[in-house]
Amino acid sequence: MLISVPSGITEVEERAVIDAGLQAGARKVYLMEEPMAAAMGAGLPIEEASGRMIVDIGGGTTDIAVISMSGIVRSASLKTAGDSFDDAIIKYVRKKHSILIGERTAEELKLNIGCVYPPNDSVSVDVKGRCLLTGLPKLFTISTEEMLEAFDDVCMQILDAIYHVLENTPPELVADVSENGITLTGGGSLLKGMDKLIRARTNIPAQVAENPVSCVAKGMGKALQQLGEMQDGTINLFRRKQLQ
Ligand SMILES: Nc1ncnc2c1ncn2[C@@H]1O[C@H](COP(=O)(O)OP(=O)(O)OP(=O)(O)O)[C@@H](O)[C@H]1O
Ligand SMILES: [Mg+2]
Repeated sequence: MLISVPSGITEVEERAVIDAGLQAGARKVYLMEEPMAAAMGAGLPIEEASGRMIVDIGGGTTDIAVISMSGIVRSASLKTAGDSFDDAIIKYVRKKHSILIGERTAEELKLNIGCVYPPNDSVSVDVKGRCLLTGLPKLFTISTEEMLEAFDDVCMQILDAIYHVLENTPPELVADVSENGITLTGGGSLLKGMDKLIRARTNIPAQVAENPVSCVAKGMGKALQQLGEMQDGTINLFRRKQLQ
């Protein structure tokens, strides 16, 4: 059994995932860090010596990694990701409009008019929520500009983590990354303007992978075919390599 995990999980967490796999009936459990799986799924030539950066923005975690020679050189995992954007909308609407909206409405807003980089055209939509003052249903209008404002903090947290990984990456590999660009995967990378934002703030070309939501699953499928090459036991090959 091959299970993907966020990069940088603790040994205790690792053990818990392995135990869950064993209890589910697997004879051997292999773990694979999600950014590695995402890179494989995105079709990056991970075995090359040249450094590449992958930013996987999922629902619960964002995984950032610099990959070279089939190993993760530097990585970070933060619990700020797609769902954090939904929370940011809820908070914003509560504060600015004094209206309470649910998680589903917030996600719909994110998908329909959400953006993280100034768009060419502005859109507004009418939304229903519950007025915090009267407790009654209330209709209000929200615009793309407001989305930008609401997302500011969350974007900054993701950008800071990217800066941090770049700062800690050996200079030659940073040079490679700036040439090869940053590949974005995960559903959160589909948020409008995400590639533009990362490009603008890092000066590094960034592009969303093809079918970003299924990259990790696709990469795991590829890795599963190479399971024979993986180390016997329960520890994944890539992590081992990094420790040696
Ligand atoms: N078109 C879209 N625009 C903006 N966000 C989107 C879009 N499609 C999906 N998302 C968001 O992507 C997130 C889910 O992404 P994904 O399926 O990659 O997560 P996951 O792999 O299940 O989570 P994790 O990697 O944290 O375990 C959700 O927050 C969802 O709202
Ligand atoms: Mg994911």
